[in-house]
Amino acid sequence: MLKEFAFEMATSSVRFGAGATNECGADLAELGARSVLVFTDAALAKLSPVRTALASLQSNGVEAHVFDRVHVEPNSESIEEAIAFAGNTTYDAVLAVGGGSTIDTAKIANLYTCWPADFLDYVNQPIGKGKPVPGPVKPLLAIPTTAGTGSETTGVAIFDYKPLKAKTGIAHRRLKPLLGIVDPENTRTLPPAVAASSGLDVICHAVESFTAIPFSERPRPERPILRPAYQGSNPISDIWSLEALRLCATYIRRAVADSSDDEARAAMLRASSYAGIGFGNAGVHLAHGMSYPVAGLIREWRAPGYNSDHAIVPHGMSVILNAPAVFRFTASANPERHLRAAEVLGANIERARPEDAGRILADRLILLMQDLRIPNGLGELGYTSSDIPALVEGTLPQHRVTKLSPRPASAEDLARLFEESMKIW
Ligand SMILES: NC(=O)c1ccc[n+]([C@@H]2O[C@H](COP(=O)([O-])OP(=O)(O)OC[C@H]3O[C@@H](n4cnc5c(N)ncnc54)[C@H](O)[C@@H]3O)[C@@H](O)[C@H]2O)c1
Repeated sequence: MLKEFAFEMATSSVRFGAGATNECGADLAELGARSVLVFTDAALAKLSPVRTALASLQSNGVEAHVFDRVHVEPNSESIEEAIAFAGNTTYDAVLAVGGGSTIDTAKIANLYTCWPADFLDYVNQPIGKGKPVPGPVKPLLAIPTTAGTGSETTGVAIFDYKPLKAKTGIAHRRLKPLLGIVDPENTRTLPPAVAASSGLDVICHAVESFTAIPFSERPRPERPILRPAYQGSNPISDIWSLEALRLCATYIRRAVADSSDDEARAAMLRASSYAGIGFGNAGVHLAHGMSYPVAGLIREWRAPGYNSDHAIVPHGMSVILNAPAVFRFTASANPERHLRAAEVLGANIERARPEDAGRILADRLILLMQDLRIPNGLGELGYTSSDIPALVEGTLPQHRVTKLSPRPASAEDLARLFEESMKIW
């Protein structure tokens, strides 16, 4: 096998600034957009990020068609509904104002409206056919309201595929927003539980992308277009991932404790985009791969602080609950990187031995989980050992991310990691 020799950085243009949401109407008018499809969820539709964006469209003479039925943690059914809405609307650009659920729904609805296809055609293999997006889609502006998924920077969109009860997604550079408007005013209303869960997602993006296999260990693609978006750790992603981690270490507790802390909120929103740039090119690995069935198989549990009419494990929580076990498992493949991540998160690694790297990193994460009142393991969400075979089965097809694990995980390994994640401390 010829090994990869190159890596490529791709990201959306990103504009940072308190109050920058006011500019979205002018941006869209500049693009020549007369009619814009606006995506958001029902709760956000009543809040200031959406009100500000709509006022900006209006004052720039841009007509808005609002779809406010984005499902929090989208699934194949809610996505189909959004596609149908987009298909029945004449529009020349898309504006997404919300968290990852909203931005991802907007990306997929725009894709299937511009390039109609069977639902599984563009979905990642092996669940879908993994067909490349055939051509450009209509311009998408993304205004994140969580800090967060970094979805404003990436060509990735995630949803729960109902028939399998596991998350999957679509990943292609053409899905990247044209512009992300990253405005810390928009996270002022974020409930603490959402700030905690989405902030822990940022941390996992950063640590997983930094500890993923090096890009040079992947097979070389036949043609450049076949180079995946998630390429493995690389020197440029490392910069963004480590800086995101540093910001989170300093600010996540403050941002969760007090949403009026402007400095902490702005830093976490920047961290979210930075980590998006890092993992959007390097990828994530096992903690994310294992999170997809954890979210998909949930029966009754509803996350406190999430205003939801359905069972829900917020994405960041589903990832962090597996993370301590995952990093204890993967550390032997590159102890220096696991130690470096632990150090950035505040651990003293002066006398650390390589064989302790996984434990030291896991312990830092556990401290943070305790401070942020994250449940003590999958058991608190209602999972038991009898669920492990299904959780493993839901993880095995997540090749896009599991292949980037620095240490390959067999079905038996995954079962052990889920068992360790039932009760964490
Ligand atoms: N595309 C990617 O690269 C990527 C990366 C990570 C996660 N994801 C996906 O993103 C989704 C999770 O997104 P998320 O964590 O951003 O949260 P979210 O979009 O699911 O929103 C969570 C909750 O917070 C509320 N909310 C959001 N912003 C708010 C604000 N400013 N004020 C008050 N309430 C607010 C929402 O109404 C919702 O109830 C999952 O489906 C996950 O799989 C995508």
